[in-house]
Amino acid sequence: MRCEIITIFPSIFDAYLSESILKRAVEKGIVEFKVHQLRDYSVDKHRTVDDYPYGGGPGMVMKPEPFFRAVKSIKAEGTETFTLMMSPQGRPFDQEMALELSKEKRRLLFLCGRYEAIDERVRDSLVDREVSIGDYVLTGGELPALVIIDSIVRLLPGALGDEYSAKEESFSWGILDYPHYTRPPEFEGMKVPDLLLSGNHKEILLWRRKEALRRTLLRRPELIQRALLTDEDYRILSEIKEEER
Ligand code: ADE
Repeated sequence: MRCEIITIFPSIFDAYLSESILKRAVEKGIVEFKVHQLRDYSVDKHRTVDDYPYGGGPGMVMKPEPFFRAVKSIKAEGTETFTLMMSPQGRPFDQEMALELSKEKRRLLFLCGRYEAIDERVRDSLVDREVSIGDYVLTGGELPALVIIDSIVRLLPGALGDEYSAKEESFSWGILDYPHYTRPPEFEGMKVPDLLLSGNHKEILLWRRKEALRRTLLRRPELIQRALLTDEDYRILSEIKEEER
């Protein structure tokens, strides 16, 4: 997979992409990143990328010319490209979109804005999908782009290595994770549930499924409707409802 990013703060990406899983994915040739400085595509000697908003109001708006020049220059290489723009007005990002994007054969190009907004003409003619990572406002598109990249790359085959597989995740698609424990078996008076120490793999799987369903029901009941559940899950859910009464 190839991800390219247009930003006025390339060093934000250099820091995150050169650590841990993402760094290893690059070394293994699973993903390739290229970060472009938007100011390199500005049209004046001051490398200006913003200007006052037409119609007045607070804040500055990112000029269209640098984005148009950057995208044109990047696309001139000829590689098919899917362009994403980060913005709170975009389609809400979720695991389903992460999975879809992880299968994308085209190069992904992330446009990151700063200031109040990006000139609407950028969205109208350069962007294939406007994406929001949640209903809150950040100071720029860099963190959203990294959030999306991180969630996509960990889904690419081979990215997570042997110690972890995304298999179990697909099993629990759409519900919350079960509680996890490691040694010691007792810590400050708090014990690990006995069943987890029993070595009974079948019972452990059942316990985990039940606790995952319990958390989802208690903390995020709206997820239950959308999750892919079996008849057995619905039976466990009634059991939980009885226990929680
Ligand atoms: N830029 C600022 N806030 C954002 C958000 N919540 N999602 C995507 N891009 C953004």
